[in-house]
Amino acid sequence: MSEVIIEPLGRAPLMETASNLSGLRFTINEWKRAGHSIALVPTMGNLHDGHISLLNRARDIADRTVLSIFVNPIQFGRGEDYDKYPSTLAEDKNKLEKYGLDLLFTPDLKQLYPGGTAIDTRINVPGLSDMLCGKSRPEHFSGVATVVSKLLINVQPDAALFGEKDYQQLLVIKRMVHDLCMPVEVIGMPVVREPDGLAISSRNAYLTKEERKKAPAIFKILKTAADQLRYRKKRMDEIEKEAVTKLEETGFRPEYVSIRRTEDLRGPSADDTQLSILLAAWLGSARLIDNVKVRLSASAAEKIISPLPSRGEGKRVIPSPT
Ligand code: PAF
Repeated sequence: MSEVIIEPLGRAPLMETASNLSGLRFTINEWKRAGHSIALVPTMGNLHDGHISLLNRARDIADRTVLSIFVNPIQFGRGEDYDKYPSTLAEDKNKLEKYGLDLLFTPDLKQLYPGGTAIDTRINVPGLSDMLCGKSRPEHFSGVATVVSKLLINVQPDAALFGEKDYQQLLVIKRMVHDLCMPVEVIGMPVVREPDGLAISSRNAYLTKEERKKAPAIFKILKTAADQLRYRKKRMDEIEKEAVTKLEETGFRPEYVSIRRTEDLRGPSADDTQLSILLAAWLGSARLIDNVKVRLSASAAEKIISPLPSRGEGKRVIPSPT
């Protein structure tokens, strides 16, 4: 019997790279001329399993995949972690070669901000950007919307993929694409978790060993809150308050825990059945965010909303760092 040689599945592993817009546009034009569909995965590098899940989906839905790595300065506030954001380009490239990508785009600051970042054109998505994380990070979502729009304009993808861990970011981008009539489908992918429940994030690297042991409490607290909501155990304001107290007791500095409509992050009313519980909390020097979705039966929705607490910004406990 002749020997069976097993070849890796998929396209040739050779990945193209572009570090400037003209190189990127050259390849994109070739693909467009050939009639290929394109999916984009925008990242800030330090690739982990969350990014790989986006990449895998991108490869499933499009003929060609582009992944960008760019740590975008304008989405970091003063005193935030821009300078220490983990950069692991060599490891990232190895992972991408292994999982399969067609084009890696790694622009520098001059490519994406040719006029600098002091006085430049920005995209602002009002409303959605000002609540929840936007309260403590007032420039953040405008920074995200601006850089993502530059990537979308140049890559011209049919689809762009983002993780639902950053759920507010996902909705900001969806709204921007809708309002600017951009011809791209924005796809959200479920949160990817460590076996102990901690949502995977580059910022988990800031946790000390001790903090890393505590961090999964976030997901446990969210799951308890979700059960309380689903089984109508408490009113929404009570559920939020209890979650904040538990976070504090575990050693977190909670920024907010808030129950919102999944669709648009507004405060729920009695007939809303698709809800999300969103949370941001500091543990040491790491600011962690997470969220879970809860689907209510119509009768449960009525019961826990009434009496309707103030549907402001959820429980804000500490002032945001500057
Ligand atoms: O989620 C991220 O990694 C970033 O906010 C993004 C979408 C790549 C924009 O810089």
